[in-house]
Amino acid sequence: MIVVRTIADVRRAVREARARGATVGLVPTMGAFHAGHLSLMRAARMQTGFVIVSLFVNPAQFNDPTDLAAYPRDEARDAAMAAAEGVDVLFAPTADAIYPAGFATAVMVALLNEPLCGAFRGPEHFQGVATVVTKLFNIVTPDVAFFGQKDAQQAVIVRRLVRDLDLPVRVEVCPTVRESDGLAMSSRNVRLGTQERVRALALQYGLQVATAAIENGARDGTRIAELARTAMHDRGVEAEYVELVSAEHLRPMTPLAGEILVAVAAHVGSVRLIDNVVIRVPPT
Ligand code: PAJ
Repeated sequence: MIVVRTIADVRRAVREARARGATVGLVPTMGAFHAGHLSLMRAARMQTGFVIVSLFVNPAQFNDPTDLAAYPRDEARDAAMAAAEGVDVLFAPTADAIYPAGFATAVMVALLNEPLCGAFRGPEHFQGVATVVTKLFNIVTPDVAFFGQKDAQQAVIVRRLVRDLDLPVRVEVCPTVRESDGLAMSSRNVRLGTQERVRALALQYGLQVATAAIENGARDGTRIAELARTAMHDRGVEAEYVELVSAEHLRPMTPLAGEILVAVAAHVGSVRLIDNVVIRVPPT
């Protein structure tokens, strides 16, 4: 595996791989790798001939400077883990390479950036994501790009921007990887104290309560969200949001039908966690 920092170097590596006939896979990340990231690298390794992992803690998508400052960074560890997965190139650019002086352009996927996390982190969060992902697609020109279902809204937004801007890339969304007790893997989990780590299971519990309600015939999204919120409260966690929305448009619907995204966010101590599940709801 080689580590490259400049756009010119990553483009050269891609050109050479394509000249050999390889298809190119891209896994965009912000580092601090865990098994969730590794699952994306593995999927890329299986499906494409030349795998590039980008590692860039993107300042444009952090609304909270303390969150940006506290974001775990350990490039040497990440590089070793990526190499062990058979990644060909780790693209770890400087902020100046991605946002040169005078940078003034943004990609905004309207409407999809407003609900769920957009309502709490601000629409600028997903504007920052959409802009950097578009840049990474233009820099790397992957045939396939790999994202995690863990960040469901992000995945929906990336799919939409690819469609709307006719970007020649296939987007693969891979399942959420969990700890053995069900907590969704996240780079932020390392910041949870021992008690907080236990309380963090409340998110998963809230999703289970919502799923059970739907399985028992409930179809009122607001009511189901309240049940999940109360279940989380009883486990010591106040939900920032619990929402049941259509998985494609992220809009509430009554009664629930079709592919429904149940999404939850909560602060556990100072750590903001998210989780979700997609349920196919048959019409009653
Ligand atoms: P980051 O949080 O590092 O996540 C990189 C990729 O790993 C994302 O596609 C995310 O959904 C996926 N991922 C995270 N936890 C996962 C889990 N438990 N199971 C499966 N996949 C998981 O998401 C970002 O970075 C950034 O917003 C980025 C897309 C790189 C743009 O800056």
